Amino acid sequence: MKKITIAIDGFSSTGKSTVAKQLAAYLGYIYVDTGAMYRAVTLFALREGCMKNAVLESKKLIDRLEEIKLEFKIELGQNNALIYLNGENVEKEIRSMDVSQWVSHVAELSEVRKKLVELQQQMGKNKGVVMDGRDIGTVVFPEAELKIFMTADAKERAQRRFLEFQEKGKSVSFEEIYANVTERDRIDTTRADSPLIKADDAIEIDNTQTNREDQFHTVLQLAKDRIAGRV
Ligand code: DC
Repeated sequence: MKKITIAIDGFSSTGKSTVAKQLAAYLGYIYVDTGAMYRAVTLFALREGCMKNAVLESKKLIDRLEEIKLEFKIELGQNNALIYLNGENVEKEIRSMDVSQWVSHVAELSEVRKKLVELQQQMGKNKGVVMDGRDIGTVVFPEAELKIFMTADAKERAQRRFLEFQEKGKSVSFEEIYANVTERDRIDTTRADSPLIKADDAIEIDNTQTNREDQFHTVLQLAKDRIAGRV
């Protein structure tokens, strides 16, 4: 069967990764969480002291970019690929509030974007990939056969993240999460290099009110139509 490239972009906490994972599992495609890659670079920067007095020392990070090796590995008994930073599984560490607070600043750096975009293009070069992020349909794979752009009300997105943190027993307030979500939206949409924008040919899905199952069926139908060459 013909393999296509599926790009899923959108705001943070809109459930992009949930639908991307479901779709990849159903179609037998590779799933790539590009946000995890920006988060892993941010974790490296935090660990290596590139943030001083609440400021990201960009040059310090850029000078050390070559030392960063990122890989996705599938663990025995798991469906999802987990991210490894220089040989270490950092899947848990990259979801911390600290990383969330810095990641949009790291993602503003063109040198970081260049490195990660090249890696992403390499991972998707044979098609059969579902990639989620902010610039997949506009920069990484502008020729993707199916592009989805996901949005949802910011309060609803913050509420979803808040519940996730609570389930994991982490003590973060709703206000802190809401502030992080809206600040990341602001930086992601206004940065100079590859800002988050809907590609002209992307299909917008607002899931403020939609449940995950209905959303998956909508996206799956779109993918099936594209694979069959119906649209
Ligand atoms: O999807 P996420 O919330 O894990 O992404 C974390 C940050 O990484 C997000 O605030 C913006 C950045 N990002 C990006 O700039 N480009 C991508 N393709 C993916 C993520």
